[in-house]
Amino acid sequence: MKLHALLVFALVVSPLAALAIGCGEYYRDPYGGEIAFESNRPAPSERVDAPDPYTGNNPHVLEAVERFRTGNDLHKKVIVRTCSPNGGVCHNQAEFPDLRTPANFLDTINKPCNVNPGEWTSVDDRCERPGDRFRISNLDHTEIEIGYIEYNAGVSPDYRNEEDDPTIDSVGLHIILRNPIETDRSEVFSAGRFIRTFTNDEGVLEDLPYASLNTRWWILDGGRHIFGEVRNNNMVDQVSDLMTVGIVQGDLNRNGIFGASQASPHSLIEPGDPESSYLIGRMRGTMNDAPVVGSRMPLANQPLTITEMLALFCFVEGLPLDGSWPDMNRPIDYADCSYSVAPEDLNLLGEGVTWAGRVQLIFEANCSGCHGGTAADEGLDLRSEGAYDRLFQPAVQNPDMQLIEPGEPMQSYLWLKLIDDDEITGLPMPFNPLTGEGRLTEAELGDIETWITNGAIRDE
Ligand code: HEC
Repeated sequence: MKLHALLVFALVVSPLAALAIGCGEYYRDPYGGEIAFESNRPAPSERVDAPDPYTGNNPHVLEAVERFRTGNDLHKKVIVRTCSPNGGVCHNQAEFPDLRTPANFLDTINKPCNVNPGEWTSVDDRCERPGDRFRISNLDHTEIEIGYIEYNAGVSPDYRNEEDDPTIDSVGLHIILRNPIETDRSEVFSAGRFIRTFTNDEGVLEDLPYASLNTRWWILDGGRHIFGEVRNNNMVDQVSDLMTVGIVQGDLNRNGIFGASQASPHSLIEPGDPESSYLIGRMRGTMNDAPVVGSRMPLANQPLTITEMLALFCFVEGLPLDGSWPDMNRPIDYADCSYSVAPEDLNLLGEGVTWAGRVQLIFEANCSGCHGGTAADEGLDLRSEGAYDRLFQPAVQNPDMQLIEPGEPMQSYLWLKLIDDDEITGLPMPFNPLTGEGRLTEAELGDIETWITNGAIRDE
């Protein structure tokens, strides 16, 4: 076996062998133990020459040249900051990769973006990968891509002795397939196999059946929904193990779109193409003009400034396209970077955090019940046409402050009410009459803070 195949094998298959879910019969870990992870890294980039110096006079570029000279500067001063101070957004958030070391950061290049989805609802179609495939061994059908898997934990009722057949909600293992299994049978006792395609060293595709589960399978919903009976506690363990294996599901967000083939999969970082890099899409809330699912990053931290965005964009644009490993000590090429012409366009504000695009919607959903119409609480109407203009007038509870002071969240009385600052009169907002308190989500607060910081503008 070639080295690369061996590593993939050791990583993916040997934990399975240990779990004894039926794969030992196919492959065995030749070392009989654990092999330390070593990613198959490409050779370092050949380019040792420094890029031409920037000769223009845009203040953002000049600041970036000064503060974020190299990839390492970018990592140390920008990327790591987005991971603090809240105990590490980058590694607490299951759906966000660990970016704390430069090597981890570089590891996001060309890597699929649904690394560790915390919630399936937060997965973007553009991050879905080709799913593993499933096959019931003694039925005559081809392997079918797995859409998603759901395990309703526990021991299934014994359907053999009962009147009822299992349903799509029964306790047990549910596998939803992309296409139906063609068969007349409604149940079969057999090995269900999980199969993945790997590319070996020579670029040849190899199919590995990496796990299997022997049980009674019920074929529901015309063959698209496969139910695996979990007969006893021993099988509960087997299925729990199977769930930790990391079966790749082609429709992870369960919306019927198989992203890898239908929405062109994106990487966390696409060399040469910041606009299509998911990591950047999550900061802007959009990618190639379509909204990105999930809350914006960095969550609850100060959003990136124009200069920081410029450094990130120029770094990504300048990454080697031949797959070689970039040199983090190499100066970022601002002179040739297409974003150096108009870095102002990278203002995160331009990406949807406007009154009309976002803030008004948050207020409508959370405030307008009390702050709408003529009888609005504290005379504050956040719903009507004139609501925006009202924001720049003095607060009733503190006439020394405007409700919103563009550029200055801490001088904006409305913001202080949202964060429950010590200076406020009355209760923090949004007031919830049932619990007596209330708070917007961190993501909503982050957007409102971004909006105020960037000038509280009205439209896109
Ligand atoms: C359940 C009703 C209710 C909801 C919902 C509510 N508020 Fe209020 N709000 C009040 C009341 C009552 C007051 C006056 C008493 C107080 O401040 O505790 C008030 C006062 C305020 C004030 C002070 C106004 C001034 O001029 O001094 C601001 C600002 C405010 N709310 C903003 C909001 C925002 C923003 C939201 C939504 C995120 C919200 N409120 C949701 C009832 C509500």
